[in-house]
Amino acid sequence: MDRSRDIECEFGVPFPGRILPREQWTRTGLRVAGGPFDWERVFGRAAPRVVDLGCGNGRFLIASALARPHCDHLGIDLVQVAVDYAAQRANRRGLPNVRFVVGDAGEWMCDRLGADSVDEVHVYHPQPYYEPDASARRLLTPPFLERAWTVVRRGGLLVLQTDNRAYWQYLLRAAGKYFEPDVLPGPWPDAPLGRTRREIQARQKGLVVWRMQARRRDLPLDVFVPQPDFDANRPRFRRTKGRSR
Ligand SMILES: C[S@@+](CC[C@H](N)C(=O)[O-])C[C@H]1O[C@@H](n2cnc3c(N)ncnc32)[C@H](O)[C@@H]1O
Repeated sequence: MDRSRDIECEFGVPFPGRILPREQWTRTGLRVAGGPFDWERVFGRAAPRVVDLGCGNGRFLIASALARPHCDHLGIDLVQVAVDYAAQRANRRGLPNVRFVVGDAGEWMCDRLGADSVDEVHVYHPQPYYEPDASARRLLTPPFLERAWTVVRRGGLLVLQTDNRAYWQYLLRAAGKYFEPDVLPGPWPDAPLGRTRREIQARQKGLVVWRMQARRRDLPLDVFVPQPDFDANRPRFRRTKGRSR
């Protein structure tokens, strides 16, 4: 039997997992009313919990759900079409341990994910927003990071990744107040060509990608963290914009 049609590719990189026969498909797109997210009701069990904020087409979360069936996964993105793609791919892989919702990551962190309720929060390539007056739209702010510290359980992880140097430098300092950054020297061992769509794209364009896996501190450091009002255009973006490598 020819199984090659069951493998999807993105920029030449296979999307994790295989498309299963239709009778094994699941339903992973979720519409939820407001209020706290009830993990145990949605997944029907108590399990470690992984959240991807701005999950895009779900590449990381689907790979993680396939590799870690003992964990429950929640992907949140503002854009309906991205969530639809993610859910369709997860459905076709028959995944019972992942859900995707349309929503605002800031609102979910503040209002819908409870204190000490999540084991891992991942944010891959948050939008840097290049226009000078758009810095207020950046997701990773001091209040957001403080809330992440509250939501992530003791010993849990915040995983951050960006191809914007200025954002990275900000995150080392800002996230470092609440989480102990472990900076990866190179690509993720579980996804050498890229964990996410944006990572694959960025690396194919020759951009540097920075990655940290940061363990929650028991107590935040007593240091000041500024607002993320850095200039996202400095210093590399302008030089590489429009080039293929
Ligand atoms: C550059 S893309 C990265 C997508 C994916 N994480 C990846 O690495 O391929 C940024 C994503 O964040 C989403 N996004 C931006 N602001 C958001 C917010 N406040 N809440 C949820 N998603 C958001 C966008 O819709 C987009 O899918």
